[in-house]
Amino acid sequence: MKTPRMVESSRCVISFVLPLFLLLFLLFFHLTICGPINVPDKLLLNCGSYEASLFNGENWIGDVGSNFLPPQYNKSSSSLLVLNIPDLAPKVPYSTARITHSSLTYSFPSSPGLNFIRIYFLSSSYLKMDPSEAYFTVKVGPYTLVSNFNPSVFAQELDVVFFTKEFLVNVREEKLNIIFTPSPFIHNAFAFVNGIEIFPVPHNIYFRGSKFPIPYLGHQQPLFIDDEYAIEMLYRVSNKNDDGSDTENAFGIWLNDFQYVTSSQYGSVLSIKASTVSVNYTTYASKDYNYSAPEELYWTARTMGSNGDANMKYNLTWSFPVDSGFKYLLRLHFCEISMVVTQVNQRVFKVYINNQTAEEKMDVVALAGEPFTPLYRDYVVMVPAENERRKDLWIELHPNLETRPKYADALLNGIEIMKLSNRNYSLAAMFQLKIEQRKKKAPHVIIVAGTLGAILGVLFTFFILIRRVWIKLKWKTSNKRSHNNIQPKVSSGHCQQFTLAEMRIGTSNFSEDFVIGEGGFGKVYKGIMHDGVTPVAIKRCNPSSRQGFKEFQNEIGIFSFCHMNLVSLLGYCQEGNELILVYEYMAQGPLCDHLYKKQKQPLPWIQRLKICVGAARGLHYLHTGTRHLLIHRDVKSANILLDQNWVAKIADFGLCRTVPSDFHSHVSTEVKGTLGYLDPEYYKRRKVSEKCDVYSFGVVLFEVLCGRPAVNPVAVEEESEKAGLAVWAMHCYQCGTIDQLVDPHLEGNIKPECLRAYVDIGIQCLANTSVDRPTMGEVLSTLETILSLHLQDSLEKEILE
Ligand SMILES: *[C@@H]1O[C@H](CO)[C@@H](O)[C@H](O)[C@H]1NC(C)=O
Ligand SMILES: *[C@@H]1O[C@H](CO)[C@@H](O)[C@H](O)[C@H]1NC(C)=O
Ligand SMILES: *[C@@H]1O[C@H](CO)[C@@H](O)[C@H](O)[C@H]1NC(C)=O
Repeated sequence: MKTPRMVESSRCVISFVLPLFLLLFLLFFHLTICGPINVPDKLLLNCGSYEASLFNGENWIGDVGSNFLPPQYNKSSSSLLVLNIPDLAPKVPYSTARITHSSLTYSFPSSPGLNFIRIYFLSSSYLKMDPSEAYFTVKVGPYTLVSNFNPSVFAQELDVVFFTKEFLVNVREEKLNIIFTPSPFIHNAFAFVNGIEIFPVPHNIYFRGSKFPIPYLGHQQPLFIDDEYAIEMLYRVSNKNDDGSDTENAFGIWLNDFQYVTSSQYGSVLSIKASTVSVNYTTYASKDYNYSAPEELYWTARTMGSNGDANMKYNLTWSFPVDSGFKYLLRLHFCEISMVVTQVNQRVFKVYINNQTAEEKMDVVALAGEPFTPLYRDYVVMVPAENERRKDLWIELHPNLETRPKYADALLNGIEIMKLSNRNYSLAAMFQLKIEQRKKKAPHVIIVAGTLGAILGVLFTFFILIRRVWIKLKWKTSNKRSHNNIQPKVSSGHCQQFTLAEMRIGTSNFSEDFVIGEGGFGKVYKGIMHDGVTPVAIKRCNPSSRQGFKEFQNEIGIFSFCHMNLVSLLGYCQEGNELILVYEYMAQGPLCDHLYKKQKQPLPWIQRLKICVGAARGLHYLHTGTRHLLIHRDVKSANILLDQNWVAKIADFGLCRTVPSDFHSHVSTEVKGTLGYLDPEYYKRRKVSEKCDVYSFGVVLFEVLCGRPAVNPVAVEEESEKAGLAVWAMHCYQCGTIDQLVDPHLEGNIKPECLRAYVDIGIQCLANTSVDRPTMGEVLSTLETILSLHLQDSLEKEILE
């Protein structure tokens, strides 16, 4: 045996720039000088090109006039030259593209079996076509490779301009068809492709079938990867060799693992001088390692380092971002190449994948039989689809000292990560909002205040005042926008961030057909989350709306709590001027719709009481349940939403304000809110306190009782005193004619003592001065008492019948 020179190089403090630069340089160097590994039957198609070209030692053919496209594509209307190709992008295949507005099929001759497919994309504008409209699906046989895919969004996520996507797909016929279809969801969507690479690969590299069970972490039963699966190849990483040579196989160059190490320490890279040792391939059935692990892979390894005590204190960790909702196949490569670890029980370690134990006692020498002998282990792990679309997949190593090994250390030579297709043969994971096509547009929520501000202004002096404030505000916001297009990024640790593309798909590019409401913030659309079941409400900020960035930030910032009577925020999207919030979907819509919309069934009294109790509970929680006092400032029946079970939830926290709990009186502020619900003390003194919400809730109580809006538009025109419900209710109360106010649908259904108690608490809420108003807690307990009286009553009735 030759003596390999062993080099331990510590890489604890390395900037990211140097290795990246080195990598790019080497990549370039490699491509131009060495040329890629020769693979038999490789087809390289330069899409949109007329001619064959030799580039970096490889032969590309143009697709124009080729047999791979239907004859009508002989006329090259859809092939084009990319003019603004970035310097770094290889000229072939990125300087031309094939572009289509309808479905396009490339058909390649092939023999049945496993095929590698690499698709090349350059994110650019094509013939002045907006890259944000390039949304398409790519399918091969039953397999969906990408769905509603937008290369420019993807490129932005990766922070690159050109990229490839790589797949392993089983072909069952004599031909391999790749079908590009523009998304039907996006108006004027188109598909494009710059290059396609295809070659057959031996079947048993990853698809090892029923004889090779793969541990499925977190599950009793192992998984067998058979022909039914398709694979997207995501990551191939190894350590950089000391001599700078790359690890490469038929699928290309393996990236340096360094950029994926996320533990506090990077460990150190162990490296043997290239080819001074030939690794022993006895554990491999065939020597087709051109397709699996190349020899160079095993010439280096990342270890934790020589300080055993320090090693016990950390996990050597790699993290790889992946799409959630899929199973992943991980292949970890091990080869003991240290000069000092030559025997069993010298280096024993644990391997964790996503917090689950993949190996309890990994002893590479024991498993391989001898040192300098490579081996790999496969694992399958599910990355569940929760709220986040992208998640990290972790691999962690930690020494295991149970068997008292000589060194407290761990080692890993290479990592491969592959995404497995799901049961629907899909590898695509976009935030796919399935759209329930609506026949008719739902009537928009009428924002009474906005449309009537002017008329009201003539009638009530305070209305004039508020209107002025509004105009000022509006002017301010629009002014701010035009001067400052780049808004600061909102950051929130609590909710998920979506891309604009996802939002576009979910709303069919914000089609009017999916509008379910409209508020001061902008329009609200309906969609379904990528699990296909959970509906969501998507609220898009109208740039000209009176509420703006601050309110948006407010919603994200304040929604860190969770309460059954508060609508939950699921996530948000901020791109350019777009501000979008994603909420849980409230099936029954706003309370106001059920109170005075003619086409809706009037709600029975008990249901109305339950809704009031729920809403009061939500407000009570805002006022007292969190560290800070929260004042909603825009309580109204349009902001009390009902879910499918008629549970009331408070929504729209755009105007919500926090007040430190030790400052329990009031805060000076600009007047905000909705006409008809505004606390008179608040607009006079500009002091906001939680009693403002109590006042507004009092107005809601009368809306519920009377089945009338807070501001009656007809009465406004008639200059009648019935215009404002609060004033009118107070007037009736003082005259003892409140009975006349009660919704005719409720007549005879409310017990007199309950009606009295309900009206009393409502009137108390409407007191002119905040000190005379009850707290939300008091309102809540009164309402609960009234409700329990009614429930008792209906129970007694049932028993009697
Ligand atoms: C047009 O396409 C067909 C295959 O679909 C091919 O056989 C033919 O040679 C092409 N014609 C020209 C002029 O390139
Ligand atoms: C692993 O567990 C820790 C703490 O238990 C948690 O913070 C972390 O998010 C988990 N990681 C994964 C990938 O599940
Ligand atoms: C290493 O990772 C495992 C699994 O995630 C975890 O249980 C353990 O606490 C970690 N150890 C250290 C020292 O961080």
